[in-house]
Amino acid sequence: MAELYGVYKCNVCGNVVRVNLAGGGNLFCCGQPMVLQRPKDSGEGEQKHLPVVERTAEGLKVMVGEVPHVMEQNHWIVWVEVETADGYCYQRFLKPGEEPVVEFRLSSGEEPKVVREYCNLHGLWERKP
Ligand SMILES: [Fe+2]
Repeated sequence: MAELYGVYKCNVCGNVVRVNLAGGGNLFCCGQPMVLQRPKDSGEGEQKHLPVVERTAEGLKVMVGEVPHVMEQNHWIVWVEVETADGYCYQRFLKPGEEPVVEFRLSSGEEPKVVREYCNLHGLWERKP
């Protein structure tokens, strides 16, 4: 059964999907089950992939990462997202050539529960602020 906000990858063709509304079924692509991507929070590459989170007057500034991640045509940060304690999720897609920095507007009292980013080569990373 697919997980809400879960990120699944097809290991045959490379399709990546994110579940925005969870039903009861399983996800398949190229005739095989898609693989749930478990977010990493440490390990090799963490300096360039772990989101760095900073509170601002308007919300949250997220930088990927402590050493800025490259944003090249074949290696870039595809998206950055913030899930709040209230269960809302804000997502912003990026393109090669852009800075790996995203600012999210949060209402007063809205608390970030987890910040994630997806690198097209190195997968899903998360930090709990
Ligand atoms: Fe990467």
